[in-house]
Amino acid sequence: MEHEQGGKEFVAALRGAASYVHAHHGRTFVIAFPGETCARGEFDQLLCDIALLSSLGVKLVLVHGARPQIDAELAIRGLVPTYEGDLRITDDAAMGAVKAAVGALRMDIEAVLSSSLANTPMGGARIKVVGGTWVMARPVGVRNGVDHLLTGQVRKVDIESIREVLATERIALLSPVGYSPTGEAFNLRNADVAEAVAIGLRADKLVFVLESDPSTWSIARSAGDAGHLLLGEAERSLAVQPLMEHLSPEDRNCVRAGLAAGRSGVKRVHLVGAGTDGALLRELYTRDGAGLMLYADTDYEATRQATIEDVAGIQALIRPLENAGVLVPRSREQLELDIDTFSVLVRDGTVIACHALIEYPDEAAAEFACVAVHPQYRGGRRARSLLTRAEAIARRRGLERLFVLTTATSHWFVEHGFVQGGPEDLPTPRRAAYDARRNSHVLVKTLS
Ligand SMILES: CC(C)(COP(=O)(O)OP(=O)(O)OC[C@H]1O[C@@H](n2cnc3c(N)ncnc32)[C@H](O)[C@@H]1OP(=O)(O)O)[C@@H](O)C(=O)NCCC(=O)NCCS
Repeated sequence: MEHEQGGKEFVAALRGAASYVHAHHGRTFVIAFPGETCARGEFDQLLCDIALLSSLGVKLVLVHGARPQIDAELAIRGLVPTYEGDLRITDDAAMGAVKAAVGALRMDIEAVLSSSLANTPMGGARIKVVGGTWVMARPVGVRNGVDHLLTGQVRKVDIESIREVLATERIALLSPVGYSPTGEAFNLRNADVAEAVAIGLRADKLVFVLESDPSTWSIARSAGDAGHLLLGEAERSLAVQPLMEHLSPEDRNCVRAGLAAGRSGVKRVHLVGAGTDGALLRELYTRDGAGLMLYADTDYEATRQATIEDVAGIQALIRPLENAGVLVPRSREQLELDIDTFSVLVRDGTVIACHALIEYPDEAAAEFACVAVHPQYRGGRRARSLLTRAEAIARRRGLERLFVLTTATSHWFVEHGFVQGGPEDLPTPRRAAYDARRNSHVLVKTLS
């Protein structure tokens, strides 16, 4: 029995992933992971998952960090790491440690990727991991009176050469090191390299695998069901919340770089935690994801549970319908009290659709109420997707039927599986509140 259940779950998961496999095939993803992530026990598993992405036809650019590895190498040499803010100061001796640490880590990554590739369905296809002197750097110079010496910033990326690598189904692996035309090597931040490469390639996605778990961050609370957050909203929240202070310097750099890349045309920036097994695959191949996705396009829509901040938006949406007698009037106070029962569909920060789901657990039922879609956005199956989502939530909560009370929209509900009922079908407390003068139709849908 357990065996059969496992089989069903597998089939459902595979079917669910199929649309993402098609969507991601041939797309370019830049995936960056800080040095802290490389130091984790689970890092090899992450690399195997990355190899799987490659065998599913994703064009991959990887950018690794090396901060803790460089610090360890400095310690071996009896040197103390020096930072100015989040930025390392790299003198000649420290640069020796950078070269040793980055070189060793790079070899480890190449070794794991090569071996795991042999075990994937693409095994034998001889996919290669390649690197190159693709990143040109210049010195950061003197900041706040401090000369950063061989710490550099990205000057230019040889995008054409990276494109050639990707066109021949090879994985491009970049290290946090860049070269100047004068023949010097500079230590760079991996997040800066990832940002510049993603922007230059006009990557479809820029993914940061972080030490911290973004799905637990305070800003994730205002993200939609799937953890999607408009770039501007993320920027506004990060400006007022102390989250950034609590992140490691490497994670902080990644978040900053992600926001900057989003502002420069990378449409999807994903942040996933390294500590959750398979988070990268779940983020990219499941509807609910496993982290946070920051998106820059304003025509993107997300459905989520409403919060108190949505009250004004819901009111603006339903007031005309209340005035027209289509919806029962609700005071602002009532809306605030009931806000936990509401879900909203938000587009570019504006509530364009909503509904409430009022549960009667004693009678295993819920009212699908206050359904409204902004007139400008009707006819796009938004109400239908809100209903499908509400049904899924109700099922998960063990409810067996949904009911609606409507004066003008009964046909829409009948077309979506509801059948005509009467006040006697309402849960007892709702029946007591039924307004006979309004004479609403009662429609019921049994959840299979
Ligand atoms: C009813 C409503 C929620 C539908 O939203 P939507 O996102 O446009 O819905 P969908 O895109 O999923 O469905 C659109 C279909 O429903 C039909 N439809 C819209 N209102 C309808 C109604 N009152 N009766 C019957 N069908 C209706 C449309 O004609 C369209 O059909 P078509 O594709 O064959 O042309 C929206 O029209 C609305 O907000 N109406 C005012 C509020 C309301 O009546 N709420 C329900 C009270 S509980």
